[in-house]
Amino acid sequence: MMLRTTVFLIIFGLSLTYCRGAYKDVLWLVDASSSVSADDHALTMGFIYNVTSYLTIGDNDIRMGVVKFDDEANALFELDDNNNKASLLSAINSISYTQSTVSSRKTMDALTYTRTLYLSIKGGRSDAGKVVIVIESGPSTNTPLTITKANDLRTSYGAEVFAIGIGSDLSKTNDELQGIANDPDSYYVEYIGGFINLCGIVPSILPKIDNETTATMLDGCDEWVEPTTAEITSTERMTEATISQTNEGLDIGAVVGILLSCLLILAILACVLYLLYKRKRRKDKKDQISPEDDIVKAVNEYNDTSLGEKRHMYKRDTSNISITPTKTMSEKDTMFTVYENLEKEVSHHITFLVDTTAGVSKDEFHQIVDFIYNITSRLTIGTNDNMVALVTFNTSPKTEFDLNDKSDKSSVLDAITSIKNHSLTGSRETHFALSYIGDNIYVQSSGMRTDAQSSMLLIRYGQSVTPTQTQFAALFLLSTVQTIYVIGVGSLMFETTERIDFFQT
Ligand SMILES: *[C@@H]1O[C@H](CO)[C@@H](O)[C@H](O)[C@H]1NC(C)=O
Ligand SMILES: *[C@@H]1O[C@H](CO)[C@@H](O)[C@H](O)[C@H]1NC(C)=O
Repeated sequence: MMLRTTVFLIIFGLSLTYCRGAYKDVLWLVDASSSVSADDHALTMGFIYNVTSYLTIGDNDIRMGVVKFDDEANALFELDDNNNKASLLSAINSISYTQSTVSSRKTMDALTYTRTLYLSIKGGRSDAGKVVIVIESGPSTNTPLTITKANDLRTSYGAEVFAIGIGSDLSKTNDELQGIANDPDSYYVEYIGGFINLCGIVPSILPKIDNETTATMLDGCDEWVEPTTAEITSTERMTEATISQTNEGLDIGAVVGILLSCLLILAILACVLYLLYKRKRRKDKKDQISPEDDIVKAVNEYNDTSLGEKRHMYKRDTSNISITPTKTMSEKDTMFTVYENLEKEVSHHITFLVDTTAGVSKDEFHQIVDFIYNITSRLTIGTNDNMVALVTFNTSPKTEFDLNDKSDKSSVLDAITSIKNHSLTGSRETHFALSYIGDNIYVQSSGMRTDAQSSMLLIRYGQSVTPTQTQFAALFLLSTVQTIYVIGVGSLMFETTERIDFFQT
């Protein structure tokens, strides 16, 4: 108890020192199609510069990247290119103008490309808040797809996506702006009449990036008000702004004082909890990743080589991959870590891919089946929740059941138990199994829903017979499956006394 109190106090003290700005990865997607003039460009960069000048920038605070797009998207700089404010501001300042010859805006491609910038290899921090701010002066060439891609960012990264629409080709109620932006649109959509008005939205955008920062309207910058619907706009703003002023009978000063004190205490508490959570997340991560694992290598190579904008990239937790070799984890810790990762707010399609070669004893195999059973028994199973498939493999893979074969938990659990009497034999052709999963499990005919996250847990007792092909197969599978967990079991995998080892790629 004493110790806990002391630790708490130390963290409390630290939190006061460290809890400064927001901890977010912010990406600006800036229209650079031919309609944008040199003046427009200068105003846009001035806007980003001004917003940035109020923020706390750094590896423990905000990281920022800027992407410009017309029919192609290019990062001008990425999240980890500037780790302090001075260098970031000067990077923004030095973004030069090139008149585009292309009038089409492929905002959807820019949004897809943005996903790659959130990878850890590009400076994305998996535990940071994700903010995407799209600035457009007209609609994209494919509004439905643009909206889908913005939705993907929300689903895979929990990103907050803002849309800033400029000029007469758009409006505050434009479908595309509203579809790109998170809800409510009154908060996430900004619409202004011209680039010249960007200056006037600095005070409104800024606290949405860092809620502890405010800016006052600069002299000479005016809030843009749409001529015909001026009243509607200002009423909306008023309702937001006046909530705290409705206690007319009370002494406003005292109320504000009390509110501020409460806010301060709440903020400090939130900071402490957040720091504890962050520490735990970091620790978990450190424990989970082995740079030597062939699939981890494949992920790394994939990230290094093919930041193919045109390819689909999904959320994969690859942070710190090059730093620490994995620590062996006990079966229990492994289970909790996997479980913790699966039971998040979104539903998952989970495939267990289980090695049935002779690498382990019958007894050990039973424990592995129990392990799968235990994870599954903790999950909410159903067609609108998590769905589970089970594939076993040795020389060739075999579907034990598909995602949509079993609709309730007890039949899933029964089917898991029934693989206990499989004979353990054959050779470890992991690459066949990985391609098989991509071709047969994560397809709509097997029950895959597009709104769920795909996760796979590979449990195996040794390296595959063809490591290179396995790496390739893993690489391909990563275009469909967002998270692959690799659990190596037994002495053939690692020289450790512990039985189960765990990585997350
Ligand atoms: C940025 O700030 C400067 C003054 O610091 C102001 O003159 C300029 O209009 C601002 N520009 C934008 C686009 O906010
Ligand atoms: C700012 O946001 C953080 C995280 O959502 C929250 O914990 C904190 O209380 C907020 N601060 C204010 C002043 O609203």
